[in-house]
Amino acid sequence: MCGIIGVLGDHEAAPVLVEALKRLEYRGYDSAGIATVNHGVLDRRRAVGKLVNLSDKLVHEPLAGKAGIGHTRWATHGAPTEGNAHPHRGRTVAVVHNGIIENYRDLKDELKGQGVTFETETDTEIVALLTQRYMDEGLSPVDAAYRTIDRLSGAFALAFLFDGEEDLIVIARMGPPLAIGHGDGEMYVGSDAVALAPLTDRITYLEDGDRAVVTRTSVEIRDANGDLANREIRLVRAEATRVDKAGYRHFMAKEIDEQPTVISEVINAYVPAGADAIEMPGIDVDFAKVDRLVMSACGTAFNACLTAKYWFEKLARIPVEIDVASEFRYREPPVVDGTVALFVSQSGETADTLAALRYCEGKADRILGIVNVPESSIARESSAVLELHAGPEIGVASTKAFTAQLTVLLLLALKAAGDRGTLSADQIADRLAALRGLPAVMNTALDLGETVERIAMAVSEARDVLFLGRGTMYPLAMEGALKLKEISYIHAEGYASGELKHGPIALIDTNVPVVVLAPDDDLFDKTMSNLQEVIARGGKVILISDERGIGRAGDGLWHAIPMPKVHADLAPILYAVPAQQLAYHTAVAKGTDVDQPRNLAKSVTVE
Ligand code: G6P
Repeated sequence: MCGIIGVLGDHEAAPVLVEALKRLEYRGYDSAGIATVNHGVLDRRRAVGKLVNLSDKLVHEPLAGKAGIGHTRWATHGAPTEGNAHPHRGRTVAVVHNGIIENYRDLKDELKGQGVTFETETDTEIVALLTQRYMDEGLSPVDAAYRTIDRLSGAFALAFLFDGEEDLIVIARMGPPLAIGHGDGEMYVGSDAVALAPLTDRITYLEDGDRAVVTRTSVEIRDANGDLANREIRLVRAEATRVDKAGYRHFMAKEIDEQPTVISEVINAYVPAGADAIEMPGIDVDFAKVDRLVMSACGTAFNACLTAKYWFEKLARIPVEIDVASEFRYREPPVVDGTVALFVSQSGETADTLAALRYCEGKADRILGIVNVPESSIARESSAVLELHAGPEIGVASTKAFTAQLTVLLLLALKAAGDRGTLSADQIADRLAALRGLPAVMNTALDLGETVERIAMAVSEARDVLFLGRGTMYPLAMEGALKLKEISYIHAEGYASGELKHGPIALIDTNVPVVVLAPDDDLFDKTMSNLQEVIARGGKVILISDERGIGRAGDGLWHAIPMPKVHADLAPILYAVPAQQLAYHTAVAKGTDVDQPRNLAKSVTVE
């Protein structure tokens, strides 16, 4: 989604802005722009497509000035054209925006009635033009911006820059995150700490409803009521913002390979060394007293929740209700006493997940957040938080955050099973021992990268791919399909193996690869029947299983990917690796933009 940066510096702003925008690229965007004030004059440059287009433009039409704002736009209202790119401006104000101004039509009609003309199809232009009107009526830039902010509804992170003001940026937040970076005699604003990382590690996060007047030497924050607000300056850990590719061709490849380390971090965080206990400080929930778990999330995080439903129900015998966050609150599900609500999000900022959380506020006994960004909105609004410890995830297609989510959720399910007495201490200890061995097992799976790459070359020719799985392999089939379509643009569907005969079997022919995820477990024989049904119709089966499973599957497989043997409950975490590698190598074979696939955003901060 859109990224915002602002600089009040001691040096030329344009290169700093473009550099910071590069660090925001991972969020997904389709145009970019910057504005600066130089000798009192406000000016801007914008370009469609990748940042290199903006940089090229700046070579031919440089923009001087030490104060500036910048933006990467992910189009919502209006096509990704230069005219719709931010910054938007009135005569003496420029604005960058992340989010959606929901009442922009009403405000636009109001201004049109006063003879104001609009140049763009965006919801953002109204912010610039309304501020301009208030300034024309005699308000100061700050008052004009604040008066405008008070009239906006929807979701917004905003930064304003003004003609004639070389030491002023006004910012506001209602929904999407926005942070202030404190420098020495310099001040910055940005959508996240990653964007600000090379500039400063001293960060203040705005709360919802906050607005602020930022100069090189001062920050004055007011809350939604207009009262002065004291927001702490936090020191951001370097590892929380380290975003280099470390020699890899793509962030996604690096993040896939980081998974054994991430799993170790998760285990270290929640299972004390040498103990057979799970410690989750702050999660003061006695699951013995919990009647029902409600889970919600989006995208890959939803697939992690769907997997966890199997664990919570089977291991801890807790009924689980689960839905994608974009549907959850519109169903108006009753959330009754005895319910714990659980929200899972890598970014902690996904608008629908946050809205689902807010729906549960005051209804659920406890709200638990599982996030990768501890300063995020979901973290702040949860009664207790479990961190993913995955480090920054830059590839739009989530990989290491997914397996970290699965690991945290499995540990939580085991804790719940302990509280409820549905697993004995020995049974829990068995699983913890297996989990401790998982990073090594995962490394073995990662070593199969070349095998998967060869298979991916063949898959890259396909137009459709089916993924089948049963039990916890069903959500993983959905995740495998999601990964493939996200980055290779091949149409893919994840199905429960048993549903094959109820529709998808009609698609099977010699051109459709069918990826079957099936460790040799209790459900293996059932899935093998489905696999035979595919082979009988000329389908090209890629079986991902262990040696024994592949042996038992017999002849007729198109390809097989042999996984190391692992405890059945851990299989979805391990089997995520070949599913991710298959998507990655297929995308590389097709030559798509792996880390920033078209139309996708890393953090979806609008509904
Ligand atoms: C976007 C991303 C996905 C992610 C989903 C949920 O669609 O491209 O990778 O799974 O949002 O994001 P979250 O940050 O809430 O996990």
